[in-house]
Amino acid sequence: MSQQPLLKVHELSKFYGGRIGCRDVSFDLWPGEVLAIVGESGSGKTTLLNCLSTRLTADVGCVEYHMRDGQYRNLATMPEAERRFLMRTDWGFVHQNPADGLSMTVSAGANVGERLMAVGERHYGRIRETAGDWLGRVEIGLDRMDDQPRAFSGGMRQRLQIARNLVTSPRLVFMDEPTGGLDVSVQARLLDLIRGLVQDLGLAVIVVTHDLAVARLLSHRMMVMKDGLVIEQGLTDRVLDDPREPYTQLLVSSILQV
Ligand SMILES: Nc1ncnc2c1ncn2[C@@H]1O[C@H](COP(=O)(O)OP(=O)(O)O)[C@@H](O)[C@H]1O
Ligand SMILES: [Mg+2]
Repeated sequence: MSQQPLLKVHELSKFYGGRIGCRDVSFDLWPGEVLAIVGESGSGKTTLLNCLSTRLTADVGCVEYHMRDGQYRNLATMPEAERRFLMRTDWGFVHQNPADGLSMTVSAGANVGERLMAVGERHYGRIRETAGDWLGRVEIGLDRMDDQPRAFSGGMRQRLQIARNLVTSPRLVFMDEPTGGLDVSVQARLLDLIRGLVQDLGLAVIVVTHDLAVARLLSHRMMVMKDGLVIEQGLTDRVLDDPREPYTQLLVSSILQV
């Protein structure tokens, strides 16, 4: 593990008019660390994730990213072209709905290949070979390489979205409810796959979930949100086994429907 955080988040706030999206969120994320953001619906998880990943602009606070050249850069003041390049290469974003993260009418192979081209790969044979390797890693048969994702099941689409995101060897991947909307058996298999890949690649991940079982399985550390605020954070096992805040205790004991 490197000595410096990958992401430094300082007092981030986002408001929708008078409504709080998220407020005063500060934390560091370390290379290779998996952080889960949990909380019930409306607690601000997606708002926070979108502010961190620059899909939304925060109203207050800032996010600094440790670039590959060793410099910290404030994401809010980074030129648009550079920010977009970062998002296409060094970062991944796995959407809950795979259709939001895939081109549904180009082939599975091209969905993965597109990201490779964004990092400058132009050799058709190599693109196809690497795309094929990645389809294999997410358990999609090579015979499906030329099929469009609209012909795939939900679980397969999600695995394709993951391959597309990981093919450029990103250092940081954002995930918003990556297993939401899937059958329970499909969810379990997908979680196993994600966990294996994250470990193998040493990825840093920020995963939003309302499902504490997902947080337990994937994350090292977690933050519990309520009404836009982080009300408790700590190592995942500590928070789940010995929650300090009454609200977290309710969440953990499943009294609250989340
Ligand atoms: N585009 C928006 N316009 C106005 N209010 C929003 C918008 N998006 C989210 N909110 C509000 O911000 C709060 C946090 O929402 P959100 O980040 O979506 O929570 P979560 O992902 O935990 O369900 C909620 O009160 C929600 O109603
Ligand atoms: Mg959400």
